[in-house]
Amino acid sequence: MLARTITHAVVGLDARRVDVEAHLQRGVPGFSIVGLADRACQEAKHRVRSGITSAELEWPMRRITVNLAPAGLRKEGSGFDLPIALSILAASGQLPRERLRGHAAVGELGLDGRLRPVGGVLAVAEAARRGGFERLLCAAPSAPEAALSGIEPVPVRHLAEAAAYVRGEAEPEPYDSANGHGPEPRYLDLADVRGQERARRALEIAAAGGHNLLLSGPPGTGKTMLARRLPGILPTLDPAEALEVTRIQSVAGLLDPERPLIMLRPFRSPHYSASVAAMVGGGPGIRPGEVTLAHRGVLMLDELAEFQRPALEALRQPIEDGEVAIARAAGRAVFPARFQLVATMNLCPCGARGDPAAECSCSPQRLAAFRDKLSRALLDRFDLVLAMPRPRAQELAAGPAEPSSAVRERVESARGRAPVQWAVDAEELLDRAVERVPLSGRGRARTRRVAQTLAALASADRVEASHVAEALSYRAPRELETA
Ligand SMILES: Nc1ncnc2c1ncn2[C@@H]1O[C@H](COP(=O)(O)OP(=O)(O)OP(=O)(O)O)[C@@H](O)[C@H]1O
Ligand SMILES: [Mg+2]
Repeated sequence: MLARTITHAVVGLDARRVDVEAHLQRGVPGFSIVGLADRACQEAKHRVRSGITSAELEWPMRRITVNLAPAGLRKEGSGFDLPIALSILAASGQLPRERLRGHAAVGELGLDGRLRPVGGVLAVAEAARRGGFERLLCAAPSAPEAALSGIEPVPVRHLAEAAAYVRGEAEPEPYDSANGHGPEPRYLDLADVRGQERARRALEIAAAGGHNLLLSGPPGTGKTMLARRLPGILPTLDPAEALEVTRIQSVAGLLDPERPLIMLRPFRSPHYSASVAAMVGGGPGIRPGEVTLAHRGVLMLDELAEFQRPALEALRQPIEDGEVAIARAAGRAVFPARFQLVATMNLCPCGARGDPAAECSCSPQRLAAFRDKLSRALLDRFDLVLAMPRPRAQELAAGPAEPSSAVRERVESARGRAPVQWAVDAEELLDRAVERVPLSGRGRARTRRVAQTLAALASADRVEASHVAEALSYRAPRELETA
């Protein structure tokens, strides 16, 4: 007896159709899975067997072969459990085969037969819908996510419930499509940051132009505090972007079932011990890295100089291209990585540099090693570099400052308004700077873009010399200059 259930395997951020066929033969009882299944997928044997008995269904005493087709596609993870179980049940005559038509299935089984959610259900549901399937059997917590694709989810909590549904004995509870049962997530607000007018201004410019920003300075000046507040002043995601971000977070298994559709821009702040694979993606399977998890949002590197140099260098290519290509034994995937970078750092290992009230105790060797970490090429990719001074006592004692909502309004109106016209003296000032500062080719292009953002923020029709002058002021402080 042969039976088939359809599922989809996640490949990168996409999913491809997989036919799960179960074949039962007479002979010595046994169970094998063929079709390039990885380890988690091979372990399905134990979960499916135990799940079927726990659901008070019968484990067929036959020679069982499960084939995952196409055989050339590598199958990863535990989402194949449910379709494997359904195929075995149908092949042994415990479920009517024709009733599974028009359905796809995905989900992990517990040993007690309970269904658990897996990552990537949105991609699976989208692919199933494109393939003409109308319903997706999945774990109850995955249903809201699946519904985002337009497919009708059939949420099941237990394999016994799935079997009853396929037999036509029970309809699952109707799925409530309202997104957003959980509390609304919020960003940190700029109103908490006292003083630091220049740094606040730089944050606003970074948001308005999508510029990469580096905040440097002595400890405790509010660098981390300010950097964390960047996502809160960025324009809100449009619906297509929201779905794109949701798909990524789903594959990474980071979605909140109470609030599957992500409306806020992502904010990722990896620890400085992050490896290259954690940063750009990869590992044994192909997983999105921090640069992809930050897609359409902010990647914050707190204590930039503490990161391992290879992890930092690996960022250079995604910063330029807005995507990362990862090749592994498991295959190849291209992940989007269009993020905005914000980083913080002290000016030297002891942190005293840039603070008039403290004396730096770093040896020249330690200082050289510190600067070595940050290649010129990486520093060059920050459009805005700022040294933050220690705030004055009176600034810290002041009342709440301007809230993020007001800043975001200015950012939103500046976006997409960058003027193309340049005043003659503005061009001249930029040309002089190339000679005098001096500016690299990239440095010149960067200053140009920042000047355009400044003109857009000022609602000016053309870029003036004053905008160029301000753009030129956000250059790496002398302490960071490498010889
Ligand atoms: N400008 C500020 N306005 C309000 N609070 C501030 C400000 N600067 C610092 N603080 C307070 O000091 C704490 C430390 O600030 P933060 O962590 O941002 O410093 P930092 O510049 O990142 O220091 P480090 O270099 O040690 O990482 C904050 O949690 C906040 O309570
Ligand atoms: Mg800090």
